Amino acid sequence: MEGLTIGRHSVPFPVIQGGMGVRISAARLAGNVALNGGIGLIAAAGLALGSEHFDGKNFFAADNQALIDELRKAYEIAPDGVIGVNCMVAVKDFDGVVRAACEGGAKLIVSGAGLPMTLPGLTADYPDVALVPIVSSIKAAELITRKWHKSYKRFPDAIVVEDPDTAGGHLGEKPELIGIGQYDQYATVRGVKNYLKEKWQLEVPVIAAGGIWDRADLQYALAQGADGVQMGTRFVVTEECDADDAFKQAYLDCTKDDIGLMMSPAGLPGRALIGNIEQVRQHDLDLNVRCPSGCLKKCAYQTAQERFCIVRALERSRLGDMETGLVFCGSNAWKADRITTVKEIFEELFPLAERAAV
Ligand SMILES: Cc1cc2nc3c(=O)[nH]c(=O)nc-3n(C[C@H](O)[C@H](O)[C@H](O)COP(=O)(O)O)c2cc1C
Repeated sequence: MEGLTIGRHSVPFPVIQGGMGVRISAARLAGNVALNGGIGLIAAAGLALGSEHFDGKNFFAADNQALIDELRKAYEIAPDGVIGVNCMVAVKDFDGVVRAACEGGAKLIVSGAGLPMTLPGLTADYPDVALVPIVSSIKAAELITRKWHKSYKRFPDAIVVEDPDTAGGHLGEKPELIGIGQYDQYATVRGVKNYLKEKWQLEVPVIAAGGIWDRADLQYALAQGADGVQMGTRFVVTEECDADDAFKQAYLDCTKDDIGLMMSPAGLPGRALIGNIEQVRQHDLDLNVRCPSGCLKKCAYQTAQERFCIVRALERSRLGDMETGLVFCGSNAWKADRITTVKEIFEELFPLAERAAV
């Protein structure tokens, strides 16, 4: 099995640990994935909340400061590792977050939850930072590539194709089109790859995200034309994941029926444990919580107090409140039956005997 090179950065194993917001993937998880030979991503969204920099009012400044702290801590774990940042286009301070990621030494920026049309302009002073959009369709990959070429003479260094039928967190598809058997993950991977090759003579990695749990899934993804995989859910049930033990336990305890779709106040569907979704909503209504930070560009809770404050709901689950906290997860969360280490996952995906034989 080959490693993975994205822009100027190479790792021995073709695995990206997906960014998981509000400190599910912070320094500890990302640093340990990088240490074990994958690409570790710190998710920028909502870092302010668990940080000493946040004074209740300075959400955006604290978020960026906290991101720089997390990058420093991740590099303490894996000084030579490839560590990047997941930046969501849907967050209001997208530009500030991207700049903070570059200042803090991110080697790549992986960006979805919207189309990152302006990303190359924001990172122009940091040409070594690899740029990786997340898409769910060939059309989105085309739009981004055309715009980047026209406006910035820059191409994506890789593209992540995220499957809305399986991935965790916010999803890039209309809710009525999710889970109806219409989406073909690997046809999309191959379609993006062909487009880049035929239209632009570009050979960059195309990474499959969503539903990859074990070695068989990884091998299938590679056989179907992916150059690597991005995995989220599997890395939650590790000792190194930055979430509270109760969050990880919720994965261990859940069944297939507990996993479903909810509508985020950001206007996107999301995959989560849905058994407590009424309590998640009721929490903010009962306390008449006002929008504390204005963190999203578009938010139904901020404008109309519809649904709930998503950053607070995710923060509650991260801290172990399983009654009113929102637990994002991929469709494979029910497969979790024990807490492992990041090292064990890499040894299962890439057996030591096979590595020695290479
Ligand atoms: C708890 C959780 C939080 C997530 N948060 C984010 C996020 O902040 N930004 C993002 O782009 N993707 C986010 N994702 C998606 C993952 O990065 C990843 O692409 C996806 O979960 C892959 O599917 P898998 O979980 O089946 O491996 C999240 C996923 C989970 C499970």
